[in-house]
Amino acid sequence: MNLFTSVNDVSDVAELVNEALAIKANPYADQSLGKNKTLGLIFLNPSLRTRLSTQKAALNLGMNVMVMNMDKEGWALETRDGVVMNGTTVEHIREAAAVIGEYCDVLGIRSFPGLKDREEDYSEDIFNKFIKYSGIPVVSLESATRHPLQSFADLITIQEHKKVTRPKVVLSWAPHIKPLPQAVPNSFAEWMCRAQAEGLLDFVITHPEGYELAEEFTSGARITYDQDEALKNADFVYVKNWSSYQDYGKILTSGDGWMLDLERLKVTNEAKVMHCLPVRRDLELSSEILDSKESLVIQEAGNRLWAAQTVLKNLLSST
Ligand code: CP
Repeated sequence: MNLFTSVNDVSDVAELVNEALAIKANPYADQSLGKNKTLGLIFLNPSLRTRLSTQKAALNLGMNVMVMNMDKEGWALETRDGVVMNGTTVEHIREAAAVIGEYCDVLGIRSFPGLKDREEDYSEDIFNKFIKYSGIPVVSLESATRHPLQSFADLITIQEHKKVTRPKVVLSWAPHIKPLPQAVPNSFAEWMCRAQAEGLLDFVITHPEGYELAEEFTSGARITYDQDEALKNADFVYVKNWSSYQDYGKILTSGDGWMLDLERLKVTNEAKVMHCLPVRRDLELSSEILDSKESLVIQEAGNRLWAAQTVLKNLLSST
């Protein structure tokens, strides 16, 4: 592995989950692997979990870590080619990424979408330019369209907590007051569709009409607008808001009735509830679920560490 930007960079997800669980059981076995290697973490957007879990993962592997909040601490970045830089941008991504590549052995990048121009966001222009011009292995810390470290941690969590061989996993849209990216649900759907194809689970997506995700991420999933029907006999419910892909970046409904509470979970198979966090309590997900034994959100966030360590180990092994 010399790139980790989607599930397409993984040949066997079940094997990768098993590797992560082995690392979780023995976290310091590879402390010499990262000796004298440097991980650069570049954030163009805020983060708690991704930042801390990836740093800790690198430290467990004996790496040095440098973190930069490029949006606040770096020079204003020009990402377009062929422009005269006589405006507010100061440094071109071609030089910035190449310079980072001189200092680091592995690079992590977080770059959210603008949610204004679908074609621009889904081209992953900024992300791909960091990959191209840094010249070193890159791990996605969340791009405009995907959040693979989150999805990998989600699958680890499902495999750890499942009570049946092939659990029913439901991705359930939730209300929000702000338009959010599709990166987490795209990525979750993409990973779950792959896991379903490998026989690990059955996958269903439920959302209001107009919130269909791009088909490239949902191939193989059953999709329904009927949330109650989707929840029946579910073993895991993954709650997440996203804005419309079709009417790009828009909020189409207040989502009344879509927030889950314990009453709504009664039709499930004592489902465990997941969310990538941060979560807005009693808007996206009820406090009574978050504070109950049904919630896996903390365990899920904990598994971000093992997902990151597994990916970094694989990237280091290929450098
Ligand atoms: N789930 C997640 O990526 O959290 P952060 O945005 O805090 O990193």
